Amino acid sequence: MQGARILATGSAVPDLCINNQKISEMVETSDEWIVTRTGIKERRVLTGINKSVVDLAALASIKALNKISMDPLEIDLIILATSSPNDLFGSASQLQYQIGARNAVAFDLTAACSGFVLGIVTASQFIQNGSYSNVLVVGADVLSKWIDWSDRSTCILFGDGAGAAIIQACSEKDNGILGFQLNTDGEKFDQLSIAYKENKKIHKEWPLPKGEFKHIQMNGKEVYKFAVSKVPISILNCLNSLNISPQDINWMLLHQANKRILSAVADKLDISSNKIISNLNKYGNTSAASIPLALDEALQKNTIDHNDIIVIAGFGAGLTWGTVVIKWKC
Ligand code: UT7
Repeated sequence: MQGARILATGSAVPDLCINNQKISEMVETSDEWIVTRTGIKERRVLTGINKSVVDLAALASIKALNKISMDPLEIDLIILATSSPNDLFGSASQLQYQIGARNAVAFDLTAACSGFVLGIVTASQFIQNGSYSNVLVVGADVLSKWIDWSDRSTCILFGDGAGAAIIQACSEKDNGILGFQLNTDGEKFDQLSIAYKENKKIHKEWPLPKGEFKHIQMNGKEVYKFAVSKVPISILNCLNSLNISPQDINWMLLHQANKRILSAVADKLDISSNKIISNLNKYGNTSAASIPLALDEALQKNTIDHNDIIVIAGFGAGLTWGTVVIKWKC
């Protein structure tokens, strides 16, 4: 078995910032309601003709590559975790082209807000079994394209962004990706979805279907209950399998959906609130981007030290949730 460790991270957000005041001019809500119920103050939204998730993903990737002066040609595999591709056949190949990583195989991974965790776990498997040496994992989403801007229960929550991590093979003793625990409950697929709906038939004699994808729909209360009940169990199971106690972790980095969820999970695990990594006040819920975006910001602030234990958990549509435990290696 080889080891795997995160070598560098990068992130990117669009320039346009929409604060709660602006949202309250579009729907019946208020800064006070949004901040109290979610912790979100503003979010970034991608605009511009032909601008897509790939542009954000490429910028985040290039920043990560530049930090370690890595040539894109050294990348063996690109995993693009996104639920808002600009091509349903996949957008990872466009990312590969845009950053000039011609030697890399590239594929999309669709697992909504758990996408980055699943991406890290997938990358670590390819590395630890010796198949690949350098893997670029990107979490990127532009859910603004799928929001119903007249639905106050969802339009206040989401923002656009991208975060990238370069994972590299290393000796077993330097392994930084310690373990993981993953779950899916497909019975609850409709609690949070952007569903395809057939709305017309395009031939008189044969029922050839034609439809389109609709807006984000979420049963907020149910998803909230799911997150605060299932995420602590996943974290605990993962930590137990590694003989690490919740008190031994240095940082807890959850998918940035709602500050009340972050606090509730920390409380359940008796993890002190000053160990919570959070930046959702500035970006809202950026889906697959939220974890790498927050990780990259924390690293830029030099908050994370060599050998710190970071417990990372994603949760969201699917419903899918999971944990990966990292030992940070500078
Ligand atoms: O990324 C995937 C994971 N996603 C999540 O984890 C999201 C989980 N869910 C949540 O974070 C929360 O459920 C929300 C933030 C979405 C909603 O918060 P809540 O405390 O569960 O509010 P609620 O849906 O129970 O609504 C409470 C009240 C309702 O009014 P009544 O029925 O009590 O009169 C809503 O109509 O607040 C009302 N409301 C709003 N009021 C002002 C709902 N949205 C808004 C709004 N502004 N934007």
